[in-house]
Amino acid sequence: MLQLTINDQKVSAPKGSTIMEAARLNHIQIPSLCHKENVHSAGACRICVVEVKGYKNLQASCITKAADGMVIYTNSPRVQRARKVLYELLLSDHNQDCLNCSRSTDCELQSLGKQLNVEESRFIGENSSTNLDVSVSLTRDLSKCILCRRCVAVCNEIQGTGILNPQNRGFDTVIGPGMDLSLGSVSCAFCGQCSVVCPVDAIKETSSLQNVWQAINDPDKRVVVQVAPAIRVAIGEEFGLPAGTRCTGKLASALSMLGFDDIFDTNWAADLTILEEGTEFLNRLNRAFSGEATVLPMITSCSPGWIKYIEHTWPDYLPHLSTCKSPHMMMGAVVKSYYAEKLNIDPESLFVVSIMPCTAKKFEIVRPDLRNNDLPNVDAVLTCRELAAMIRQAGIDFVSLPDREFDKPLGISSGAADIFGLTGGVMEAALRTVYEIVTGRELPFDNLHVSPIMGLNDVKEAVVRIESPVDAFKHLDGVDIRVAVTSGLKNAGYLMRQIAEGKSPYHFIEVMGCPGGCITGGGQPRNQDPLVREKRMKNLYSEDESKVIRKSHENPYIRAFYSDYLGEPNSYKAKELLHTHYVRRGIFNEYSKETFIQEAPKHKKQIIGTQDSIISKKPHTRSETGTPLIREEPESLKILNLEAENKNLKNKLSDAMETIDILKMVISDYIQQK
Ligand code: SF4
Ligand code: SF4
Ligand code: SF4
Ligand code: FES
Repeated sequence: MLQLTINDQKVSAPKGSTIMEAARLNHIQIPSLCHKENVHSAGACRICVVEVKGYKNLQASCITKAADGMVIYTNSPRVQRARKVLYELLLSDHNQDCLNCSRSTDCELQSLGKQLNVEESRFIGENSSTNLDVSVSLTRDLSKCILCRRCVAVCNEIQGTGILNPQNRGFDTVIGPGMDLSLGSVSCAFCGQCSVVCPVDAIKETSSLQNVWQAINDPDKRVVVQVAPAIRVAIGEEFGLPAGTRCTGKLASALSMLGFDDIFDTNWAADLTILEEGTEFLNRLNRAFSGEATVLPMITSCSPGWIKYIEHTWPDYLPHLSTCKSPHMMMGAVVKSYYAEKLNIDPESLFVVSIMPCTAKKFEIVRPDLRNNDLPNVDAVLTCRELAAMIRQAGIDFVSLPDREFDKPLGISSGAADIFGLTGGVMEAALRTVYEIVTGRELPFDNLHVSPIMGLNDVKEAVVRIESPVDAFKHLDGVDIRVAVTSGLKNAGYLMRQIAEGKSPYHFIEVMGCPGGCITGGGQPRNQDPLVREKRMKNLYSEDESKVIRKSHENPYIRAFYSDYLGEPNSYKAKELLHTHYVRRGIFNEYSKETFIQEAPKHKKQIIGTQDSIISKKPHTRSETGTPLIREEPESLKILNLEAENKNLKNKLSDAMETIDILKMVISDYIQQK
């Protein structure tokens, strides 16, 4: 242990600690801004400076190692003055429009000002870039970026995608893709991990709230909502509940109070996914062990950030992906076919909203390959953070809500579906079903949990031996099924390299784009609790264990759906509705020539840069009404786009008229008072 003196107190700290860590261990908080535990420590902002006896300059405590005998002052007048000046300098090049900012009250820069007791900003100067970059998933506002570089660390070191980097030098430095390109035009996976760590409003999800409110208030629309498994253990944090609190019943109540017509559960579709994906895996396995040509390992396809990454980075290996749509897209397809038929209504009058932990889901719903009968499967995606904003906007007291059930028939699910929300969960759910189909017996793991693939390790693997299978699977007797699970795109890259080198020992691989899976997706609450992943994970397993039915194939509503509608898993009808194909994009979109830029509000200067020199520019956008604009070629799509534009202009006109009416009312009130 090191012996130190901090603020005249004798303290000790483990060898190797930074000054900040040593102070925290001894109940002294040093203000910080760019530093983020387990993500980033580069000493960029210097807000954490401290005075160290014997050192001429103040030291950044997040990167300076504590040494034996050090005498440190964390709050001396010199330190206080330096922090204030540094903070004021940060503000001098920052858009301080807090009242119009979605991060207000949840902004680390704002809280820091309060902590430092800064009441005025004395420096006024030139502002650097104020550009806005709006893609279908994420919005970057350079006027709010404080150059802390947390996003750079996540994108490069954790996700390994290398999209965000400092560009230019000195005052002209901006954080973004090279050559001033838009996120929507490069190989960004839209995972949104950068938006989770950003301390300010410089990167966030592109909002769909207006579209959803519009649909709810449209009397001609029936608005169906579905909720991903990981939302139920995270949404409570937005309302002050402890990390990981299970809020399933409150969530269903809130959705009903918001005015959604049908409250369904993506978990139902997760059970459906297991039947489709499990059957697809067994078919591939059967072919492999019968000497027929097939592609193994098969890789899961529920994570759209992962799908976009593989489409850009490993396009030669797309046949390894399961052809199953992700669960919420399956749900959308089922709602606009089976459920519309049941209700005897026109599918066009249905508006499907998905509440997702993921920003890449916003990109997924505008993919041209994820439509049926020329209708998108899902019309809008809200992140967990957006749903919380909606609940607050509606004045709903979330914490005191009573529990409510999801609606039948598409709201009932097994425990296997709950664990889709965490790394290892899809694989475990699939094995619970596949093993039982092949052997007629339950998966031989304690409490049905495949322990080797639980937890947060980078790559986890398990071997499941098939012994004494039922007659239909006799040829698999004695086969060891080898599976691997990973999360985070850098780790996925490791497993892909194994496949590319012909060294992959696995039959089945689960990949989730975000580290830890959906529990820490890019659209989840930003929680400073260092154990947030563990807590959400534990409670999602508890949700599974609390269910009477814990295997997807035992869900009676899934069985009824097959007997009423699809026939059997992987049937022709199932493939039409629930399966998809993938697109070779290439690192520079050179194969797909698709981009995903969205129009910014008119008063903002927008980055619309695409790699024009490499590809022809075909922005892949949706209008402010949320109508997806898809590939240009067919006339019918051009008409659709014009109609969307027309609707958009009408909405803007009606907004303007409404604003004029409100102004008239205010002026008339004012005159009357006079
Ligand atoms: S990012 Fe924070 S400091 Fe900046 S405008 Fe928004 S709330 Fe205010
Ligand atoms: S969304 Fe993911 S891949 Fe894209 S810039 Fe952010 S961290 Fe990088
Ligand atoms: S975008 Fe956010 S995380 Fe990235 S450097 Fe700017 S402020 Fe930091
Ligand atoms: S928090 Fe230490 S330099 Fe930014």
